[in-house]
Amino acid sequence: MNITLRIWRQKNADEEGQLVRYPIDDIEPDMSFLEMLDVLNERLTSEGEDPVAFDSDCREGVCGMCSLVIVGQAHGPMQGTTTCQLYMRHFPDGSEITIEPWRSAAFPVVRDLIVDRSALDRVMQAGGYVSVHSGPKPEPNSMPIAPEVAELALDAATCIGCGACVAACPNGAAMLYTAAKTSHLGLLPQGAPERYTRVTDMVEQMDKEGFGACRNYAECEAQCPKEISIQFISQMNRDYLNATLAKPVDRRSKMSAQ
Ligand code: SF4
Ligand code: FES
Repeated sequence: MNITLRIWRQKNADEEGQLVRYPIDDIEPDMSFLEMLDVLNERLTSEGEDPVAFDSDCREGVCGMCSLVIVGQAHGPMQGTTTCQLYMRHFPDGSEITIEPWRSAAFPVVRDLIVDRSALDRVMQAGGYVSVHSGPKPEPNSMPIAPEVAELALDAATCIGCGACVAACPNGAAMLYTAAKTSHLGLLPQGAPERYTRVTDMVEQMDKEGFGACRNYAECEAQCPKEISIQFISQMNRDYLNATLAKPVDRRSKMSAQ
């Protein structure tokens, strides 16, 4: 295959970037998208040019590192696929392929196609854990969990924290990411006691990080490589509402107890 790449090159967050064209020949259709970028980088290095900086780690759809916008879509044109699971056979011979970093105010560009996604980590640190003592590991049948609830929690737990939902959203919202995390913990018994404080803390941190508001475009769901449903956002909104409505009651009951 012969293709032409248009790749975003940017030295650092302070300098302006631009799209640079790279024609590339003799690409195997069964090569992965990242292997094709490796081939380009070998060529650039041998010609004394700077290789294109991009993130990757597991290269099997697990870690969420491979964050590229390919022909205008987060993780490229294939549904339910991370960039590292994308193959060159998914593109017609002779294609011109534009590759950009995640675009969001909360994700500043570090270099070329690498962005700083630590804002997502700080949202997790605000409440994405179970801190109550849940005792020794219970005998499995002593705490039955309805299969539909377990399924839902596991669906939410497939989130790999890639940030494609933010990149896909016209408002740069991180609602799908945060909702997946609050749901996978809050639906199960060990995470239930902190369900409402968790949702409040994580939503407030999400706002502090500069992520936008949800306007129900649903682009996050359409471009999420794990096909996580926006139903989780509705659940998070309901939990947030319950948590904030409950606050004055909590305060009143504390005052009357004093
Ligand atoms: S919800 Fe989907 S798109 Fe968003 S971070 Fe998780 S896996 Fe990535
Ligand atoms: S490199 Fe780990 S999900 Fe793509």
